[in-house]
Amino acid sequence: MTAEKLNHGPDLTVRQFIINFESGFPRHWHKDAFRTQLFNALSMSFPAGEQSFIDSVRDCLPLLPADKKYDALRQSAKDFVAQEATHRHIHERYNAVLASQGLVNHWEHWITKRFAKFKAKGIHPLNFLASTVAYEHMTAILADVMFAHPKLLDSATPDMQALWRWHSSEESEHRSLAFDLYTALGGRYSNRIVSYLFAIWWFTTDVIAQTTHNLWRDKTLFKPSTWWHFLVYEFHPTQGIFWLMLPPMLTFFSRDFHPWKNRQQAPAQQWLLQNQARWKAITKTATSSSIAPAAVL
Ligand SMILES: [Fe+2]
Ligand SMILES: [Fe+2]
Repeated sequence: MTAEKLNHGPDLTVRQFIINFESGFPRHWHKDAFRTQLFNALSMSFPAGEQSFIDSVRDCLPLLPADKKYDALRQSAKDFVAQEATHRHIHERYNAVLASQGLVNHWEHWITKRFAKFKAKGIHPLNFLASTVAYEHMTAILADVMFAHPKLLDSATPDMQALWRWHSSEESEHRSLAFDLYTALGGRYSNRIVSYLFAIWWFTTDVIAQTTHNLWRDKTLFKPSTWWHFLVYEFHPTQGIFWLMLPPMLTFFSRDFHPWKNRQQAPAQQWLLQNQARWKAITKTATSSSIAPAAVL
């Protein structure tokens, strides 16, 4: 990155996603129990997880020098906060339906406790941002996989397909904000990698524990079909999420990693364009088109 030209992603649009949760959704909205409870577990993590991303960005913004060259980044950071806040809001409503279905959200308490513990230790805000950089890479990669392999969501109800694709499109869109802020503040490679390893560990253990708990509450944990669907969905040789996510996950270790490097903006933006009836723009920070293919930075 040069001092003259800062790397940062496309202009962000803050959108209100349109969905009615009043009549809830089917208990197995994603066809089988495993897939449904895996996505439900992810949803359970979002209100607390995305609040921690918001906090880390807000805490680091004042550390940016008062230089005009950071104005675009500052504006993108505000829009990132607004996008994540809308995600939190929608997933809180989603999670209320899950609670009415008898599921219990433990993941949010694990996140809250963990962050409170680290905050109490007086850890520098840049290290919390490093953690956000790590999680944001994982969510952006998951979004890429969802768009590249639509079959992974095709068996969900139309509303839930739209909800997950809307969230995925914004995760893709703001994929570089935390990284660009971290870089602008002089964040170190070593801290980014250590945070990534912790993030992978926590994400893996948390998602396994919450999904297992959901399946137990759903009374489907001990059904052979649940375990078969787990194996196929995660480890199918060509369509398994684990194998699809592994190569892009490894790119994070590169010293010249950037979230937009070899990534395309088009799939997410095309979905947004084709599904404008599902969302309402709240802000658009700039007039430049965000539909253009990814300007790889
Ligand atoms: Fe989000
Ligand atoms: Fe995000």
